[in-house]
Amino acid sequence: MSDPQTYIYPGSFDPVTNGHLDIISRASRMCKQLIVAVGRNREKKTLFTVEERIAMLRESAARVADSAGRPGGGNIEVVSFTGLLADFARQCGASVIVKGLRAMSDFEYEFQMALLNKYLDERIETIFMMTNVQFTYLSSSAVKELALNGADISGLVPDGVQERIRFKVTSQRG
Ligand code: COA
Repeated sequence: MSDPQTYIYPGSFDPVTNGHLDIISRASRMCKQLIVAVGRNREKKTLFTVEERIAMLRESAARVADSAGRPGGGNIEVVSFTGLLADFARQCGASVIVKGLRAMSDFEYEFQMALLNKYLDERIETIFMMTNVQFTYLSSSAVKELALNGADISGLVPDGVQERIRFKVTSQRG
C-alpha cells in the first residue's frame, strides 16, 4: 500500500521557475515527503540536461522553508524518471500527484493526464494547486525566450537560474 503522505510533483522543469517553486513550497507543507520528479516530455526539446535541471531544482529546494519555518527543504527530494509517471509514483510509494494550474488553458491537458494516470493506477489521486496569481503568466519557455533576448528574468526564476541560462546560451553560441 502506498504511503498517503508521499506526494510527487512531476514536470519538465526546463528550467525551474518561481511558479514551480511556489508549488513546491506549498505542497511540501501538505505532505510528509515531496518527490519532485524531472521527467521527459517527448514532444519537448530541452535547453538543459536532466542533470542540470535536477541541480537547479535542488539548489532552489534547499532554500524552501518547512511548515515550522526551518529552511532547507528537508522533506523535498529531487529525482529524475523515465517511462510512465504512474509506474514511477508507485515505485516511490507516492499516491498523490501534484500539478499546478495556471489558467483554464492548462485544464484540458491536465484533466486528460489525470484521467490517464487514474486509468493506469486507480489508487493514484491527482490534486491541482492554483498557481500563485503573480505567476499565472509564467512558463519555462517564456523565461528562456526572455533570457535569450537579454531581458532581466531575475524576478521570475530562483537565484542562479538566470546565470545558468545565460551561460548555456553563450556556450552554445560558441
Ligand atoms: N509555474 C510556472 N510554470 C508552470 C507551472 C507553474 N506553477 N506549472 C506548469 N508550468 C509550465 C511549465 O514551465 C511548462 O512550460 P513550458 O511548456 O514552457 O516548458 C508547462 O507549464 C507544462 O509543463 P509541465 O508541468 O512540466 O508538464 P509537461 O507537459 O512538460 O509534462 C511530465 C512533463 C514529465 C509531467 C509529463 O510529460 C509526464 O508525465 N511524462 C511521463 C509519461 C506519462 O506518464 N504520461 C502520462 C500518460 S500518457
